Amino acid sequence: MGNGIAHVFAQHGHDVVLGERFDTTLQKGLASITKNVGRQVARGVITEEEQTALIGRIRPVTSFAEAVKDAELVVEAVVEDTAVKAEVFRTLDQHAPADCILASNTSSISITWIGAQTARPDKVIGMHFFNPVPVMKLVEVVRGLATSDETYATVKALAEALGKTPVEVNDAPGFVSNRVLMPMINEAIFCVYEGVATAEAVDQVMKLGMAHPMGPLQLADFIGLDVCLSILNVLHTEFGDSKYRPCPLLKQMVTAGRLGRKTRQGFYAY
Ligand code: 3HC
Repeated sequence: MGNGIAHVFAQHGHDVVLGERFDTTLQKGLASITKNVGRQVARGVITEEEQTALIGRIRPVTSFAEAVKDAELVVEAVVEDTAVKAEVFRTLDQHAPADCILASNTSSISITWIGAQTARPDKVIGMHFFNPVPVMKLVEVVRGLATSDETYATVKALAEALGKTPVEVNDAPGFVSNRVLMPMINEAIFCVYEGVATAEAVDQVMKLGMAHPMGPLQLADFIGLDVCLSILNVLHTEFGDSKYRPCPLLKQMVTAGRLGRKTRQGFYAY
């Protein structure tokens, strides 16, 4: 999602430093931005001049310290793993300016806990975007226990200036979005696992019967099955409630490396 977030900030006039650990993933992110900006030009959402300016506002770097040293806001979008988040936020806290807001695009991990990894929990907040980031209007703005009103007000105003609609949510596992979405996706996977219906049939039911733009299994492939499993694991562990247990089929597919669109195989082949 990081490339989509960089894209949207640059589209709205912000100078963006796109930080990735490896050059190969950095180049992949830049290629996605180029493709998606091209799509916006083709649809008349932005002009060719705006396209050039947008791309020019994004500076790609692979050095962590370099990426954040002059930042006013950092939006973290690393893998949904608590150990990695902790390491990233401790490092961010060392290298980012003292008044810099540290936002996380986490899908489910506690913002209060992430804030506690830093010496500035009042400046830590959830800024949860939705895929595809340039298209989806929602930003779930998640307040940790220690997030200050000032930090919240800044991020809310910023989300609005990006053309998004911020919705205020308090810190709880999965927030609102994934607490509601993931059990639906998990239940759809159980339907396939138990032989109730094929993946195509489950998706057709939800698309034609519930007017969802994508069926839950197509959406799971789009989000990434590894991401879905990580979120369900957070919900299951944090609530301690068996209703969030991930379907064995989801675990198997992740173990087999069938992660959805990004590996070209999930519930569907791509
Ligand atoms: N970048 C920029 N623009 C894009 C894009 C991208 N990656 N993907 C699609 N678009 C644009 C298209 O250009 C088009 O623009 P227009 O309306 O101005 O002409 C518009 O989006 C619609 O695209 P298409 O006509 O190609 O395709 P669809 O009508 O099938 O829409 C979709 C595609 C928007 C992805 C739609 O299927 C959809 O809304 N799906 C559900 C997405 C969803 O639920 N996302 C949330 C996932 S959960 C999440 O992200 C949270 C995390 O924590 C797990």
